[in-house]
Amino acid sequence: MSTSSGVKLLGLSGSIRKASTNTIILRSLAERLDGKASMTVFPLNEVPIYNGDLDGENAPEAVRALKAAITEADGLVLCSPEYNHGMPGMLKNALDWASRPVGASPLKNKPVLLMTSSPGYVGGARAHAQMQETLASTQSRVVPRAQVVIAGVAQKIADGKLADATTIDFCLQAIDDLLTEIRRLATA
Ligand code: FNR
Repeated sequence: MSTSSGVKLLGLSGSIRKASTNTIILRSLAERLDGKASMTVFPLNEVPIYNGDLDGENAPEAVRALKAAITEADGLVLCSPEYNHGMPGMLKNALDWASRPVGASPLKNKPVLLMTSSPGYVGGARAHAQMQETLASTQSRVVPRAQVVIAGVAQKIADGKLADATTIDFCLQAIDDLLTEIRRLATA
């Protein structure tokens, strides 16, 4: 999608399920950016389990594609469920690949907005905290703001889209904060 602003966001979903509510949230927000930015969602399905023996310039193709997509993006939007009070291993694994080489990875200084959603009452807040901790280790720039945690997500999706107006507004405000952080870092 081309936009007047030219700002490119990359969405990473913590669930690879076809009907993932987290992927639905990312796609729904992508449709509502109103020319301020574009957002594509990078599917993590093909990213293999991290193996230091395969790390480096000749890493598996899906890993190289993920790292290139992160490098090309002005900012990341992560939206993840919570599995057993933490982020899904698949998302942690992708962040581990993307964190290499340490100190010079595509994640270093990358503005990142964190979001979690869950059918439960705390909206994946424990996974959210864990994502924050992992991203601190990568030296990325997590947007400092009120956590975007979406509880009771099943009631907020209709016809394959995020349909709850309050949640949509809250998420779009968070993306505005991400865009502000991108501009701030670009001129720092
Ligand atoms: C879950 N789920 C879950 N939910 C939650 O709020 N806290 C939790 O600790 C867990 N633990 C958990 C473990 C495992 C292995 C699964 C598969 C699921 C429920 C989870 O949040 C729910 O399935 C989400 O809707 C999945 O997100 P997607 O796939 O719809 O994006």
